[in-house]
Amino acid sequence: MTNKFKYFIGNWKMFGDIGSFKIVSKINQYAYKDKKVNKKKIVLCVPNTLIHFYNKKLKKKYISLGVQNCHSNEKYGSFTGSVSASMLKKAGAQHVIIGHSENRSEGETNQLLKKKVNSAINQKLNVIFCIGETHKDKKLGKTFSIIRNQMKETLNKQINLKKIILAYEPVWAIGSNKIPKINELNIIINFIKKTFKKNFKSKKYPKVLYGGSIGPKNIKLFASINEIDGFLVGGASQSSKKFIDIIKNYYK
Ligand code: PGA
Repeated sequence: MTNKFKYFIGNWKMFGDIGSFKIVSKINQYAYKDKKVNKKKIVLCVPNTLIHFYNKKLKKKYISLGVQNCHSNEKYGSFTGSVSASMLKKAGAQHVIIGHSENRSEGETNQLLKKKVNSAINQKLNVIFCIGETHKDKKLGKTFSIIRNQMKETLNKQINLKKIILAYEPVWAIGSNKIPKINELNIIINFIKKTFKKNFKSKKYPKVLYGGSIGPKNIKLFASINEIDGFLVGGASQSSKKFIDIIKNYYK
C-alpha cells in the first residue's frame, strides 16, 4: 500500500503571472538535481492564463504542469468564460484539480463534479480529486460520511485508477495554519483507501494525498503516515524556496 516516491503538488490558486515563471524554473532545476524525487510526481497547478506559456518556456521538463479546474463539457460549447478539459490539455496541462473546496463553496455539486472528472479523464488528464469535511461537519462527527458521499456520488467503478489521485483536504485546515492530529489523519487516509477499493470493486488502493496548511516546518510530522502518497500544497507552493524546503524536509 505504500509508495516510495511521494507526490508534491502545488496549487497556486489565483496567483501568478508571466514573471512567476522563475518559481517554476527553480523547482524544475531542483527536481532535476534531487535523486530522491520522482520527476513525474512533482506537479505545479497554475492559473489557466499561464499554462501554455509555461509549457512552452520550460524546455526540459523535470516536473509536470497542471491547472486548477475545468468545465464539465469536455470539448467546446457556448459556455462564456469557461475552459474545457480538451482546451487545457492542448495548452499543455497534464493534471487538473477537481472538487477543490473553494470551488465547491461556490456551488459545485458532487453531480457536476462527476461530469468534470469524466471529461478530464476522457481527455487523458490526471485528476486530483479533492474531498474533505468542513469544521461544522467535523464537530458533528460527520467526517467519514461526508467523504464517503463525495467519493460515491462523483466517482465510479470505471474510473481509471492510473488517472485519479484523491486529495483529502479538510476545509478547516486550508489556509488556516491548522492541521489534523496525525493519528486521526492516518485513520482517515486508510478509510479513504479502503472505502474506494470496496465501493468501486477496485483491485488496488487509490493514491491519496493530504492537503491543508502544509509548510516546511510541519511537513516532517506527516512522514510517520506510511499510507500517504503525497501532498497538495497551496499557499507555500507560490514560493520556490518554501516548496523546495517542503520536499527537502520531508526526506530529511
Ligand atoms: P493551503 O491550501 O496549503 O494554503 O492551506 C491547500 C489547498 O487549498 O490546496
